[in-house]
Amino acid sequence: MKKVLVIGSGGREHAIVDALSRSPQVGKIYCAPGNAGIAAQAECVAIKDTDVEGLKAFALANEIDLAVVGPEVSLAAGVVDAFKDAGLRIFGPSKAAATIEASKDFAKQLMAKYDIPTAAFETFEDYEAALEYVKKGSFPVVLKYDGLAAGKGVVIPETLEEADETLKDMLLDDKFGKGKVVVEEFLTGPEFSFMCFVDGLDVYPMTLSQDHKRAYEGDKGPNTGGMGAYSPVPIITDEDVEYAMEKVMKPTAAGMVAEGCPFTGVLYGGLMKTPTGVKVIEFNCRFGDPETEVVLPRLASDIYDIFSAVADHTPMPQIEWKKEVTMGFVMASKGYPGDYEKGHEINFPPVISSEVEKSSIRIYHMGTSVKDGKYYTAGGRVLMVVGFGADLQEAHDKALAAVESIECDNLFYRRDIGWRVL
Ligand code: AMP
Ligand code: GLY
Repeated sequence: MKKVLVIGSGGREHAIVDALSRSPQVGKIYCAPGNAGIAAQAECVAIKDTDVEGLKAFALANEIDLAVVGPEVSLAAGVVDAFKDAGLRIFGPSKAAATIEASKDFAKQLMAKYDIPTAAFETFEDYEAALEYVKKGSFPVVLKYDGLAAGKGVVIPETLEEADETLKDMLLDDKFGKGKVVVEEFLTGPEFSFMCFVDGLDVYPMTLSQDHKRAYEGDKGPNTGGMGAYSPVPIITDEDVEYAMEKVMKPTAAGMVAEGCPFTGVLYGGLMKTPTGVKVIEFNCRFGDPETEVVLPRLASDIYDIFSAVADHTPMPQIEWKKEVTMGFVMASKGYPGDYEKGHEINFPPVISSEVEKSSIRIYHMGTSVKDGKYYTAGGRVLMVVGFGADLQEAHDKALAAVESIECDNLFYRRDIGWRVL
């Protein structure tokens, strides 16, 4: 039986642990650092997800067969490179390949060089030059800070005054840290998340999902890490997926090989179906969160085999998906994505465990703690409650009923997850 170490502590990692626990080959799962929900399915070890040396020492001492990396911060810290140097098997991209997410400018230059459809753009380090460029263009305009900013590095000003303020923050005031700004054309259309398992030139698609990035109903309010998701996405056709595979994901994987930083792991295409075709909004170098929580429960194949094929560069088994569909609602701390309190008690009524037992819902913990058998809020995003069904309406209804039954005085959620398709 295999021993696996999952690195990370959110809902995404809970869904990865959950998928691994369905593998008949996996006997023991550790999660570093994990969370209170993950602790029910894996042994949590108190090592930070960026403590590369600590993680490596743990994996060596415990003879881990495979490590799986969740968050981008671990990848950007070079955990994959360090594990490989130590002869350890690990699923995820190298630090160099992770630049596709860590630097918006790198990603845009790559897309320009390899003809991958994306919004027109220009990169600036100089405030005056950026302002001149923005003055000549139209509004709204998209300003992206070039660096990891936890989903807060994108501003879409409607006016020149607002754009000026943002450029000052990003280029003069060092509010985000010293850097560059990508000024991008504003695109319109529904967004969708296309995650693929990638091993160098080989690209294996996952089923599609759609996130809801804004904090409040009606897609209003600030951008967040994501407030809910569902899978599959019926408004995206098979032709769109084919186009995204052939014109976006495969050429991007090939471009990374040509640039000398082949990608291994999950390449996440944040795509938009615009009136002039599918275009790239962003790339991530890892599983999406909360997308993973609606995609992996639909996986019928053994995820250990998939991770192994990528980690070992061996042939990929056939990847099968269940017919059953999923929709999930994020319950977040009031104030998120801004400041919020922690430590509010969460009460799961008995109906939750009976629904989980019937496999009609699944609860992934994003940010919780446990003390004396009681659960407490411990993060901005706290729970991802996923419903299953024969169709998205059924999955929606089951998840929402569960969300409404969970008692906590400091959580909020969007009731309109899936509005584009219901
Ligand atoms: P990103 O972090 O790059 O995914 O951007 C966050 C969000 O900003 C995206 O999910 C989109 O909703 C929006 N966005 C980013 N780039 C564009 C663009 N070029 N046109 C329209 N909206 C965009
Ligand atoms: N939900 C978007 C992301 O994982 O980046």
